[in-house]
Amino acid sequence: TGEAGVTGEVNVTGAAGVTVRVPAKVNVQLAVGAARPDGFHDLANVFLAVSLYDEVTATPADRLTVTCEGPDADKVPLDATNLAARAAALLAARHGIAPDVHLHIAKAIPVAGGMAGGSADGAGALLACDALWGLGTPREDLLAICAELGSDVPFSLVGGAALGVGRGERLTELPVAGPFHWVFAVADGGLSTPAVYAEFDRLAEGTDVSEPAASPALLDALATGDTAALAAALSNGLQPAALSLRPSLAATLAAGTEAGALAALVSGSGPTTAFLVKDAESADAVAAALRASGTCRTTRTATSPAPGATLL
Ligand code: C5P
Repeated sequence: TGEAGVTGEVNVTGAAGVTVRVPAKVNVQLAVGAARPDGFHDLANVFLAVSLYDEVTATPADRLTVTCEGPDADKVPLDATNLAARAAALLAARHGIAPDVHLHIAKAIPVAGGMAGGSADGAGALLACDALWGLGTPREDLLAICAELGSDVPFSLVGGAALGVGRGERLTELPVAGPFHWVFAVADGGLSTPAVYAEFDRLAEGTDVSEPAASPALLDALATGDTAALAAALSNGLQPAALSLRPSLAATLAAGTEAGALAALVSGSGPTTAFLVKDAESADAVAAALRASGTCRTTRTATSPAPGATLL
């Protein structure tokens, strides 16, 4: 829940706040290569934005503060480690100004869920502060700051669909039709992304990890809006590691498939699971069946593609 906002108490200029809406993502393909010397993994990471949004509001203040509201607000760190706070501090440092801003996050994206919720808040804060402070930072520079904040942050800014290579931060936007309909099953508790990659490394020990490459069939399914073809092409190289750390996710995946989902997979590093379905009606039915199955905490339905970080 957190504070409702501090406008009026520390709003020193009287200026109104700036709000940015940022989407969650699902990885429709996550091909993971071997660990690099720096510990990161080379990826072929096909991101797809979904219509599940956090909103970040930046308001003038006498120092950098963060508050958060939403069902999982108590799980969001409000200190300097928060990606929204880090984004404001990094942008201010680039321009040689003080990061005197209050950031309020209205959180709908599952926390530590493999849907880039923290990354969304970083991209949102960056865009909101840039507008609030009237900086007009070039897009290219904003993307570079995003990449510094985290591998998934550039995509939160861009939205739509994109292929991320390198550690996932080097983006090429992809043509995407739609709509694609999704159900997300939110698990109890989060999974640590570094822990999932470490488990990937453990499971890969003694095996040959092939060079990650995007699947032509998957890119074609995105471009043409072919749900059945996308369902057949979905893949997540981190899924065995996520299932190894959280074996109960197998029951969630099975429950969604039994309920009529066209495909089921772990979203990113998990533990949120994603179900691609035929249409909005099927989404409601699969979501209800998942909740009734007792294999998840709650569900969300959403569509793709969704726009990237947008000033409201
Ligand atoms: O870039 P980001 O801070 O989101 O990454 C979090 C962690 O996920 C990294 O510290 C690393 O352990 C892991 N990671 C990785 N390879 C990537 C992206 C992330 O090993 N391409």
